[in-house]
Amino acid sequence: MRHFLTLKDFTKNEILEMITLAQKIKQQTKQRKFVPYMEKQTLGMIFEKSSTRTRVSFETGIYQLGGVGLFLSSNDIQLGRGEPMKDTSRVISRMVDMVMIRTFEQSKIEEFAKFSKVPVVNGLTDAYHPVQIMTDYLTMLEFGKENPTVAYVGDGNNITHSWLMLAAKLGFDLRVATPKGYECDASIVSEALAFAKESGAKISFSTDPKEAVKGCDVVTTDTWVSMGQEDEKEVRMKAFDGYIVDETLMNLAKEDAIFLHCLPAYRGYEVSEETFEKHAEVIFTEAENRLHAQKGIMVWLDNHRI
Ligand code: CP
Ligand code: NVA
Repeated sequence: MRHFLTLKDFTKNEILEMITLAQKIKQQTKQRKFVPYMEKQTLGMIFEKSSTRTRVSFETGIYQLGGVGLFLSSNDIQLGRGEPMKDTSRVISRMVDMVMIRTFEQSKIEEFAKFSKVPVVNGLTDAYHPVQIMTDYLTMLEFGKENPTVAYVGDGNNITHSWLMLAAKLGFDLRVATPKGYECDASIVSEALAFAKESGAKISFSTDPKEAVKGCDVVTTDTWVSMGQEDEKEVRMKAFDGYIVDETLMNLAKEDAIFLHCLPAYRGYEVSEETFEKHAEVIFTEAENRLHAQKGIMVWLDNHRI
């Protein structure tokens, strides 16, 4: 049995298998063919943080696969009153067929997975957002960016860490520009660089958005204030001054470069209104692709049970 906690645990081939499945299932879905790959299965969905896309896409996704999603907000289950993660895991995983969790520390989802009888999927932690990045890869392929140079501008966070792992595993080039003090986690960087050595990915880091974006195929960013960092908002706004992705910056990328955003977007901060709206078709296809990419991941995990 496999868990989907970080892309670190998967080979290039396995990542591509999930993407191929997602593409096939997307095509079927678009033809209104809902193949019950996971008939009668229940997906437990534990949320310790807010969500729009993750909740709707997983709940709809499992339903379209013939199963049902169970929305479990930590405010409403005993986990929120202090029941240990390992007990929650031992109870819920005896009743459902797969679990998706959105939580804080990566160690919490690892703890859940350790005690789980069923596959566990990371729906975002402080360290990673791997289902989002699989979605972003699916979207890049759809927009003709097969072997891209990607520039990430902004906070060195869960999204950036996931980009690092995706690029390092698949072997494409990634340039990360973060302000001083908001770099990626050093241990995740060193793990990613070790994978990059094997795959041939060129990964670079700087504090200069212009240098990162120059001549690239894909530009991406994320909020400057992630969930759980609300108290740091004021300090962060100052630190990220000059890191907005706007048309001046986009003009340095290739003419046909696309812009991705995992959403929610904060216009006037990490992205300008103009750039956001100019790339809205790609951005909202990316949002829709959460549904399709995650179906690929769930079906792949279901096929790898023993
Ligand atoms: N991108 C993303 O995960 O969105 P939600 O927080 O709305 O789920
Ligand atoms: N980095 C953001 C991503 C939201 C989808 C957060 O963790 O809040």
